[in-house]
Amino acid sequence: LAWVIGVFDSGFGGLTVLDSLLQSMPGYDYVYLADNARAPYGARSFDVIHDFTREAVDHLFREGCSVVILACNTASARALRTLQRRWLPHAWPDRRILGVVRPSVEALVGLPPGSIPGETLPSSATGRLAVVATSGTVNSDSFRLELEKFAPGVDLVQQACPLWVPMVENGETRGAGAEFFVHKYLDPIFSVDAPPKRLLLGCTHYPLLLPLIREAVPAGTEILAQGPLVAERFAHWVSRHPEFADRLGNAGRRIWQTTDDPDWFARQASSLLSLPLKASRVRLGGRSAEF
Ligand code: DGL
Repeated sequence: LAWVIGVFDSGFGGLTVLDSLLQSMPGYDYVYLADNARAPYGARSFDVIHDFTREAVDHLFREGCSVVILACNTASARALRTLQRRWLPHAWPDRRILGVVRPSVEALVGLPPGSIPGETLPSSATGRLAVVATSGTVNSDSFRLELEKFAPGVDLVQQACPLWVPMVENGETRGAGAEFFVHKYLDPIFSVDAPPKRLLLGCTHYPLLLPLIREAVPAGTEILAQGPLVAERFAHWVSRHPEFADRLGNAGRRIWQTTDDPDWFARQASSLLSLPLKASRVRLGGRSAEF
């Protein structure tokens, strides 16, 4: 039996991660699941994000995934650790769930993939860093907690941008309205005396606003999007886990699933990825095991 790689997001944002995976590792089989019917997750409570994420991952394991990438910071920040510790070991002991927070933090402080906290960096080495993310991710403080492991006392500015995901989910990525809300959240961080030199887009939807974001920050600001860095670090993970790598399907299959209207999903996703695709609708919830 050949295993599939699962990529999960609340909506379209995870396509920015999948896009990079398809470019760097096109041979593998992938299933992308978007919980569009219940997106956005950003402002939902911890318990709800946890339950929705567990239902999605459970579904992907039933579909034949050996590993699921939570291509969603909100799910990674609020659900990943608990699922890994309290659910996976008894529900699916031979499967893996990976998140996007840890690889992003490695990239943000300039460390290579798979770095182990131990040799820490002085905060002077990293300078001031900025992360923009959903309210759920910012409130979880996950980026700071992970960053502190590598760079204690790190100078980090975090900004929640609650309107950006709804804008992207509704195709509002250009024009004066979108520009206004991009400035609304970025100006407080960057229109100051010592603005951060490096900005992490800590939400997988945000690269879809990249042209506007780039115009709103000072020239020379390094902007990190998660697609390329997650793909690079996932390739590294695969190389360190031959027990998974050897059994991954290599037929280049693509499966597209959404919890909302599949034709609408296919239209949006195909224009974002510039490739033709057909999607199917799945129902989540109701059949996954409780703790
Ligand atoms: N792409 C998700 C993330 O990275 C968006 C979360 C949401 O649905 O609000 O956080």
